Amino acid sequence: MIKNIVLIGFMGSGKTTVGKVLAEELGYNFVDTDNLVETSQGMDIPKIFETKGETSFRQSETVALSQAVAIAQCVISTGGGIVTVEANKDILNKGIVVYLEASPEQIYNNVKHDTSRPLLKGENMYQKICTMLNEREMLYKEVAHYTIKVDGKTPNEISTLLLRGIQ
Ligand code: S3P
Repeated sequence: MIKNIVLIGFMGSGKTTVGKVLAEELGYNFVDTDNLVETSQGMDIPKIFETKGETSFRQSETVALSQAVAIAQCVISTGGGIVTVEANKDILNKGIVVYLEASPEQIYNNVKHDTSRPLLKGENMYQKICTMLNEREMLYKEVAHYTIKVDGKTPNEISTLLLRGIQ
């Protein structure tokens, strides 16, 4: 296999955990666009949103994605909003794009105690998830070459299904 594998999907769908397992299986590098942005900006994501705003975050995220796809043999985990920027679609398309599809219930379960995601902060987290997922679902499906339903599956199971699906 020559192309990189790019994981897309909503916050809390398991992109990072699955990506690490997958990279290990394949002997590939693992790259996370959120980490690249944090390193380039010298601060964590909540701080970037707070001090520079989402637009600035999105610009850094596009740069990070371009850097990630240029690395040979890697599994790339992306931020959940990567598909909301039109210019990212062509960059994503340089790899094999896999959508980890999770239900709002599964997502809520995975992120309900998490405070590191500025877009889910505050009241009514479940409602926010439903609304944003509804807005983004078409975008994920449009960009993805493969979709894996992840509800109730372990990272190892997802990784196995994914490799079976794309090979
Ligand atoms: C975001 C998802 C986050 C991170 C940022 C914005 C989004 O990444 O990029 O908080 O817009 O969905 P994860 O999907 O890894 O949580």
